Amino acid sequence: GQARIGLIGLGTMGAALASNIAEKGFDIAVFNRTTQVTRDFAAGAGDLGTKITPTESLEELVAAIATPRAIILMVPAGQAVDDQIYALRPLLDAEDLIIDCGNALFSDTDRRVHDNRGPFLGVGVSGGEEGARHGPSIMGGGAQEHWDRVADIMTAISAKHEDDPCAALMGPGGAGHFVKMVHNGIEYADMQMIAEVYGILRDGHGMAPEAIGDVFAAWDAGPLQSYLIEISGKVAKAQDVATGEPLLSVIVDAAGQKGTGRWTAIESQHRLAPVPAIEAAVVARNLSARREERTEGERIFGPAPQALDGLSHDTLERALIAGKVICYAQGFEMLSAAMRDFGWDLPMARIAQIWRQGCIIRSSMLDDMSSALADAPGTNLMFTDHFAAIMRDNHQALREVVAQAALNGHPLPALSSGLAYFDAMRTARGTANMVQGQRDFFGLHGFEHVNGKTGQHGPWAG
Ligand code: 6PG
Repeated sequence: GQARIGLIGLGTMGAALASNIAEKGFDIAVFNRTTQVTRDFAAGAGDLGTKITPTESLEELVAAIATPRAIILMVPAGQAVDDQIYALRPLLDAEDLIIDCGNALFSDTDRRVHDNRGPFLGVGVSGGEEGARHGPSIMGGGAQEHWDRVADIMTAISAKHEDDPCAALMGPGGAGHFVKMVHNGIEYADMQMIAEVYGILRDGHGMAPEAIGDVFAAWDAGPLQSYLIEISGKVAKAQDVATGEPLLSVIVDAAGQKGTGRWTAIESQHRLAPVPAIEAAVVARNLSARREERTEGERIFGPAPQALDGLSHDTLERALIAGKVICYAQGFEMLSAAMRDFGWDLPMARIAQIWRQGCIIRSSMLDDMSSALADAPGTNLMFTDHFAAIMRDNHQALREVVAQAALNGHPLPALSSGLAYFDAMRTARGTANMVQGQRDFFGLHGFEHVNGKTGQHGPWAG
């Protein structure tokens, strides 16, 4: 018979997703622009081969799929997606559904959903190659009726938390890719905070990578339990294959990025949603790339990091706990801002649930986050009963870490901006009255008086 679904783009992620779909019992037709890739994929499919139909042209692909068709795109985000849609649409029937499972910019997805060329879903898929192959977290975007046509496949291939599938429709248009983008922003911030604590252990405590790995492994058995802490421990303990040196000592300290974290930071500004820890993480990656300048700076000012003995592992763990809550709080706040601005009804508690397995930011804290967001919708995560208690218990540790690090020259951009966010968010009377006074002085911009009157001015107004 004909395939239930098609897939275009057999790169690492596409091949893994196609195998996952076949393994769950769905017949799938696949196509890759370079035919040899398709042939190699089919040849290597083993037992799954009976479920996979390799095709060597778009026409052949389309003919191999049962109508109304559903076709997944797994091509690089950006122009390649538009090119693929242009090439494909003329071959399709009006009701055939195209599903972009790449890391598209949500506004591109919005445009593609609304361009009236045919049914379109933009689906965020998290979990790297391993996730795509054995169970990713899946964030759908588009019309409910289109999602319903493939919901069984999305559910079947997704990660499961106990029996609960980590796949859901987030909302219309670009909502799925928006949620995936924010996921990646949280990912950036969490990774950066872990790297900052690694820096204190390495430069402040003079610990070897192996021993740092032990610290992370111990933390992975406590409140910080998460995929990113787990893999950080594994990275710290790993050895370079060629030299046998600790892997971390042979990796250049310049971080790469494909752009999703940067999108989150930029988009947060458009939404007036403060996500300083995420922004700081993007800045830290950009800064990390400036190796020559950093080397020059160290020559001019001397090496910054100094011994730092006042901080116990317990204090560092607590600081990271507070930091982690702040990362997620900022991410969820950004989702709230998108709901307000775009009229979406994002399933906030469900988002925390579908992030519990499969995705990069999976963490044991997400269970409690889901309950907290369900119990107190619209509340900043830091202010919900459960997480307010965690912040009360741990913000002092974050403060000590940031303060000691500052005094001793350790840069902690994400942790320190996270702390500033927390402190700003619990200060009823801030300092923007001064900013408003300045604005009124030089531009007569007017301010709101504490008596409630708006458009007020200082004595300099004529
Ligand atoms: C995931 C990841 C995945 C990927 C991104 C971000 O959820 O599976 O977020 O999408 O790692 O490409 O990577 P960069 O660090 O390269 O921006």
